[in-house]
Order: sequence, then C-alpha cells, then structure tokens
Amino acid sequence: PRLWAVVPAAGKGSRFGADCPKQYLDLGNAAVIEHSLHALLAEPRIATVVVALRGDDSHFQQLAVSRNSRVRAVQGGAERADSVELALASIAQDAGERDWVLVHDAARPCLSGSDLSRLIEECLARDCGGILAQPMVDTVKRANDRQQVVETVDRTVLWRAQTPQMFPLADLFSALADCRKRGVLVTDEASAIEATGGHVAIIQGSHRNIKITHREDLALAEFFLNELRA
Ligand code: CTP
Ligand code: MG
Repeated sequence: PRLWAVVPAAGKGSRFGADCPKQYLDLGNAAVIEHSLHALLAEPRIATVVVALRGDDSHFQQLAVSRNSRVRAVQGGAERADSVELALASIAQDAGERDWVLVHDAARPCLSGSDLSRLIEECLARDCGGILAQPMVDTVKRANDRQQVVETVDRTVLWRAQTPQMFPLADLFSALADCRKRGVLVTDEASAIEATGGHVAIIQGSHRNIKITHREDLALAEFFLNELRA
C-alpha cells in the first residue's frame, strides 16, 4: 500500500491577523508551509503530497517547493474538512484500495522526522488509524454557561490532538463525506473517524509540534525549529 499526504493550506489565518495567510509568513530561512512540506517530503515512504489552496492563492506558486515532482496543488474549500475532502477527491482515482493518507496542517512547521516515522510505523503495525497528540499540562476545568467552574476534570485521560493524522485513505474519504451529509462538526480527521465508529490510536508526539495560530507562535516556532536542527 502507498502513503499519500494531504496538507490543508486554504485558511485565511484570521486569528493571526497578518497581511497574508500565516502559512506564507517567513520563518527562519523559509515560509511556514515550506517547513511543513519539507518535513513530509523528507519521509521517503510518502509518495505524493497534495496541498489544498484557496482559489485566489497567489503565494504558493512563488515557492520553489511548488515545483517539487512529489507535490500537487488542488483547490480547497470553505472549512478545513472541506479542503481535506476535496484533496482526497482529487486523488481518489489514483489511490489504491489499501492506501493510507497522512493529513498535516500547513501551519504546523515543527514536525520532527522521528515523530512522523513513529506515527507511520505504529499505524501500519496496528493496522489502525492514529494521531500524534500531547498530554495536557494544565489543570482542566469544566465550566457552566456563566463561566463558573463546575468541576476539575481528570486530565490523565485528555490529550491535545496534533497533526499528522494517519488513516486508511478510503475510510477517511467516506467518513468526511458522511459527516458533511449529516452536518457533524469536524475539526480534525480523527473526529470524522470517531463520528463514524472507527478506531483512532494516540501516539504521543513532541510538544514542539505546535500549530501557528496567534502572532507569538511564530517566534516560538523559530526557536523550536532551531532546537530540532541542533
Ligand atoms: N485550512 C484549510 N481550509 C480551510 C480552513 C483552514 O485548508 N477552509 C487549513 C489552514 O490553512 C491551516 C489548517 O487548516 O493550515 C489549520 O487551520 P487553522 O489553524 O484554523 O488556520 P486558519 O483557518 O487559516 O486560521 P483561523 O482559523 O485563525 O482563520
Ligand atoms: Mg481556522
């Protein structure tokens, strides 16, 4: 079976609030998305990386990585889940029945090669989809609608989901279509698999694998990238 990667990169970065979408901002020697793509391209088991872009994207084609023979660009959609589903639709013809797909946020540039290969090995060995995730570090509270604490939640059973998230390609494609038709809220690939009764393994990843969301995350990502290279 082959491994594909999908990189949703069709977001606007509204919480970050820069002039251009956050995936195209400079981070050290390259744009944020170039770091995310290079991390995937460094893994030889990944045959092709499909990047989902906004229809009016003018940035991607200016990057050298857009001309990499293992990279394909397609048009994304209104929500992240739509972008992933459209990317999967574009490769459905070429994909084999037992192929796998890894979905990785364009805005998550500090993925290490060791986390990526551990995720791949665990999913293949267990023959089960899986996600990288981090244990919670803070004490966690449940609140009522007046923002008063109701209780402290047992954090040992709670995890922060990261990407990549790896699933059998056909399972993820049908789960996303199913959730769209049923109107289920899908904020990551695992949530679509969960909603359709599938299994998701948790593989503990590095705390460095942050998603760039707010402005201060960019400096933190640069610090982590330097640590990864050291
Ligand atoms: N994404 C996408 N298509 C969308 C929305 C998001 O491909 N319609 C991508 C983003 O480009 C990003 C990833 O999904 O790489 C994670 O989403 P998020 O961090 O929420 O990015 P944005 O949606 O761009 O940011 P914001 O929510 O602050 O606007
Ligand atoms: Mg968003």
